[in-house]
Amino acid sequence: MTTQKFGGTWTQEKLNIFTEYLDAYLTVLQKQKFKKIYIDAFAGTGEIETKDGEQFLAGSARRALEANKKFDYYYFIEGDRDKASELQRMIDTEYPQMKSISKVYCGDANDKLSDIINNVDSLQIVA
Ligand SMILES: C[S@@+](CC[C@H](N)C(=O)[O-])C[C@H]1O[C@@H](n2cnc3c(N)ncnc32)[C@H](O)[C@@H]1O
Repeated sequence: MTTQKFGGTWTQEKLNIFTEYLDAYLTVLQKQKFKKIYIDAFAGTGEIETKDGEQFLAGSARRALEANKKFDYYYFIEGDRDKASELQRMIDTEYPQMKSISKVYCGDANDKLSDIINNVDSLQIVA
């Protein structure tokens, strides 16, 4: 299994703030008619391993997938092939209901972000 190492307590604090922000963002925008798209440009595997190797924390991708309120589409970009595969496996096995609205890209965030944004009106996810 390809894992990410925990940066420190600030990592946990940052991720907790991120989760609160996600919930607030989706609550505020839930009545808007436009599509809401989540793009995680440095997605990782969805899991972060603590320094002692004894615990796994939910990373940004897992937190986004688990948020109570949903985006219309989820795009994950990860430069490392093994990590991108690990994230895809997590979606396939743990969030199969999200497969039709989620896509994992393996590549450089600078290129893939441009591709996604330039084609956002025509992007469709085929699981
Ligand atoms: C700190 S880790 C991921 C953290 C993740 N957001 C989380 O909370 O679990 C940063 C990730 O970005 C990836 N990465 C670094 N530079 C990248 C780039 N230019 N394009 C795409 N992915 C990149 C690394 O392989 C690594 O998995």
